Amino acid sequence: MQTITCSAPGKIYLFGEHAVVYGESAICCAVDLRTRVQATVGNTIKISSVLGDTGFDQDTYPYVCAVIKKMSEMTHIRGISLRIDSDIPVGSGLGSSAAVTIATIQALNLLFGCGLELEDIATLGHSIERMIQGAASPTDTYVSTMGGVVMVPQRKKLNLIDCGIVIGNTGKFSSTRQLVSNVALLKKRYPQIIDPILSTIGRLSQIGEELVVNKEYEAIGRLMNINQGLLDAIGVSSSELSNLIYAARSAGAYSAKITGAGGGGCMIALTDSCDVEKVASGITQAGGEAIITKVTEHGVKVEY
Ligand code: PMV
Repeated sequence: MQTITCSAPGKIYLFGEHAVVYGESAICCAVDLRTRVQATVGNTIKISSVLGDTGFDQDTYPYVCAVIKKMSEMTHIRGISLRIDSDIPVGSGLGSSAAVTIATIQALNLLFGCGLELEDIATLGHSIERMIQGAASPTDTYVSTMGGVVMVPQRKKLNLIDCGIVIGNTGKFSSTRQLVSNVALLKKRYPQIIDPILSTIGRLSQIGEELVVNKEYEAIGRLMNINQGLLDAIGVSSSELSNLIYAARSAGAYSAKITGAGGGGCMIALTDSCDVEKVASGITQAGGEAIITKVTEHGVKVEY
């Protein structure tokens, strides 16, 4: 029996979501919340996770089924059994779909000897996300494949940051597509107002780059808080997100802002390593689910 387990991480945005849609810079980090896919060669297709045990079921497992379909064009896959487990909350802007897609691609790639390199995996993962979602930026799949801290669209790796990171999940579903289209509408109606806001967000990422390299967390935090103000100005915050953001700041975080599309989903707080518990409890008391994590250099990898 041939079995392999691969895992891939989720991601957060330090700077630049929404502005990146218009070609501005953003800084993203892979975080130590992973999706693991154990793949075993067999005679039929079986997929299992907390979502249920199924065969080739595109409604329950759209990303995994798309990977099987695409990779069947490269190699003969008679049967495969996939067991998925994940630390990443689904549909909350932390890149859960990219992580399961990338981990599955790498597991099949290694089991069936397809010879895909990391760049190929990121590209295939992006094309699958685009196929399923209609539109998707390459950021999630790229960061999940490569790990670390990445400036996009340049795809430039920066050094790791080692401060505390606390994620606050509002538990409220948000549609990335809807929020991106709301911003597009606002931009069309008020270009003289919105365009400079988006380019200022891009500028924050550029100034943030050097601060990340120098690990100047308080200064990064100041700029992230400005970024949050600008995200609020373009209408992608919500009362739930704002509550968690102010709770984290009051509990002593360097900074707190939305990560991803906004509207619901998650916020992140950067903290001194000593303050993570305090900030997490501030977020919990304000009604959020707090997740303490850190940045990881490990993109997709084999689990032993
Ligand atoms: O919420 P997420 O993880 O899907 O991130 C969306 C980020 C946006 O910049 C709003 C859209 C994009 O495709 O880059």
